[in-house]
Amino acid sequence: MDTAPARSARVDRGELAIVVGAALVSFGVAATILATGDFGREATRLALRTTARLSFVYFMLAFLATPLGRLRPGPASRWLVRRRRAFGVAFGASMTIHVGCILRLYALYAPDRPPMVTNADFLIGIPGLTLVGLMTITSAIAIRRRIPPNAWKRLHTTGLYAVWSIFFLCLVDSVSRKETDHPITAYYAFIAVLLTAMGLRVTARISQQRSRESEAIARH
Ligand code: HEM
Repeated sequence: MDTAPARSARVDRGELAIVVGAALVSFGVAATILATGDFGREATRLALRTTARLSFVYFMLAFLATPLGRLRPGPASRWLVRRRRAFGVAFGASMTIHVGCILRLYALYAPDRPPMVTNADFLIGIPGLTLVGLMTITSAIAIRRRIPPNAWKRLHTTGLYAVWSIFFLCLVDSVSRKETDHPITAYYAFIAVLLTAMGLRVTARISQQRSRESEAIARH
């Protein structure tokens, strides 16, 4: 999830702190929910939903870095742009805890399929996770250098929009199917953030195209 030109393969301490910190937060929150719920089915389901939302935060920071850098240049957006690869990897790490919760549900409901795992989870979730895995692995500088830049960019751009779509579909599907006392904080707020983030990406893209066109006109 990084489009910066070639960087040093040295591990950046700031990036490492973000990845390890985010993974520990997701792991710690999931473990606390499971422990307070005696590691039962409902606790596992809650941990699954919560890790999806924590992963959402890391994903959004990676998704929004470039458009914010373009639309609101400043120290904060520059910091975010420099750290977007770390937030992408943090998202990948946090999603492994989502997967861990799914596997635990399978163990708790064995030999049946857990009733909350739908066919749609398989159809869109598995390809989505495959993309997340590929993006996370290819974010490592050493691996990135072995991949042609165009192929790398295609993978990461496709993955970014695919994951955005999976979040959107999961949340819209859930809000229409599931009962909750807090639909705004549980679903609508996340859907609003997704739509706003996409709006910012489109606006940033248009602004980039316009400035390229103006530069081309100025050169002639
Ligand atoms: C990139 C991949 C994925 C993303 C972005 C994602 C996202 C989400 C989100 C946003 C939720 C919260 C929904 C809610 O609160 O109602 C969720 C829950 C869930 N996800 Fe995932 N997911 C992914 C992969 C998968 C996969 C591969 C499976 C299973 C095969 C799966 C199974 C579930 C289940 C069972 C829930 C809980 C549903 C419930 O409580 O009723 N997810 N996921």
